[in-house]
Amino acid sequence: MKISSIKADITTVESEALIVNLFEDVKIPGGATGSVDSYLGGKISKLITAGEITGKKNEITIIHTFEEFSFQRVIICGLGKQEKFNYDSIRQIMAITLRYLRKIKVKKVTSICHGAGIGGLDPQLCTLAMTEGSLLGIYKFDKYKKSSPEETLEELLIVDSNENNIKPIDSGITKGTILAESTIIARDLGNEPGNILPPRELAVRTNTFSKAVGLDCKIFEKLEIQKMGMGGILGVSAGSHEDPRFIVMEHKGNNNSTEKIALCGKGITFDTGGISLKPPLNMGAMKGDMAGAAAVIGAMIAIKKLNLPINVLGVVASAENMPGGSAMRPGDIITMMNGKHIEVDNTDAEGRLVLADAIEYSKQQGCTSIIDVATLTGAAIVALGNNAAAIMGNDQNLMDKLLATSEYTGEHFWQLPLFENYATQLDSIYADMKNTGGQPAGSITAGKFLQDFVGDTPWMHLDIAGMARLDSTKDYKVAGHTGFPVRSLVSLINTLAE
Ligand code: BES
Ligand code: MN
Ligand code: ZN
Repeated sequence: MKISSIKADITTVESEALIVNLFEDVKIPGGATGSVDSYLGGKISKLITAGEITGKKNEITIIHTFEEFSFQRVIICGLGKQEKFNYDSIRQIMAITLRYLRKIKVKKVTSICHGAGIGGLDPQLCTLAMTEGSLLGIYKFDKYKKSSPEETLEELLIVDSNENNIKPIDSGITKGTILAESTIIARDLGNEPGNILPPRELAVRTNTFSKAVGLDCKIFEKLEIQKMGMGGILGVSAGSHEDPRFIVMEHKGNNNSTEKIALCGKGITFDTGGISLKPPLNMGAMKGDMAGAAAVIGAMIAIKKLNLPINVLGVVASAENMPGGSAMRPGDIITMMNGKHIEVDNTDAEGRLVLADAIEYSKQQGCTSIIDVATLTGAAIVALGNNAAAIMGNDQNLMDKLLATSEYTGEHFWQLPLFENYATQLDSIYADMKNTGGQPAGSITAGKFLQDFVGDTPWMHLDIAGMARLDSTKDYKVAGHTGFPVRSLVSLINTLAE
């Protein structure tokens, strides 16, 4: 769908559907909705008085005008209570409205700029949110279904009568498109099944995406992974016929800075649990155990496209975790890239093993801070469900900056503690450490494991197990992989670049 803007009186622009809005409990609409109401001879206010339009959050009302006006329909979307209105409300309403219009086979849509008028929000951020909500909301992963070509939206035109708003509106559309498209890269990768997207294919696709935007991308195959001594990645992939890949993308955005941020992603293309085999129920969801890697890849593409003035290394440790004759066993002791010996208590705690090597690699590359992203523990879902990701780390400033991005992105995080005592749960009789800490505080002990490899380097860990995928569509988060937290990562890197 093409998104663009125009300075015009909204009532004069031709379209199949014109989108306006209304806050809850407003009796006489003002702003752009007010002008449309007057132009329609008060039809909207009459329906409000009659109680048919309430302005409740995500309510959609359609008024057909047929050939009477330049627009064939008016869609009034409810924005909910004004005091609760924010940028995420804009994403949500665009997603819901556009899916509805797509279903009734509308192709060309015009809209007022939600939030910029009476909403009192920044016009650039409003259209950024409109663009994200629209593109993410109409997203479909349908390459393995017989397609229905008649159902595609072609154009969204954002109309504003204020000349001064057009520049920020256009810039919001451009940035929003970049952010949505890179989120969609992450969604597509997450939605691909394990047979189509083993580590070698994840590497090929990452390379293709990188080349397309001029991002530097290196791929290390098994032999090189062996040479680097990445015992964690090798141990996890040992049971699979699919070899591991170690993928490194680099954005050199600031020559005058010695700072370099590592974004490390867990890229398990399928997690059976290994010899510590998972139960069958919902195991198919483990094709998405590379969602952390997908988010890092998406974020790197956006960072490059936005040309953010900062140095960022995108590091993906990819393997398939399978049982088999050559698989790693519980009780095995493996040697990690940094020389530590790990007792593999449970082969299903594989994410921390591949990430530990990615962290050591990032340190050796001179990264000054490390952010890792992983679908790491079921315990993160138990703690926070599908509404927030768990974060932890040794750098409060980094975590505070990420937490602050939520107000704009609508993606939520909650910090867990890394108190020293939790580390004792990882004590091993036979080796430096074991890879599991038992049932209690499962997300935290996974974090403690990673922290051991991080050392003093400023670091933050994002456990996205509950956020990577949704069973059913929720506003702009279409069922399946969500692309979480691409937008947050880019927003954070943008803050760090300032
Ligand atoms: N990939 C899983 C975590 C996960 C579970 C992600 C559900 C998304 C949905 C991870 O590799 C895993 O198996 N973790 C174990 C760790 C345990 C063995 C210490 C877990 O959470 O049960
Ligand atoms: Mn696992
Ligand atoms: Zn896993």
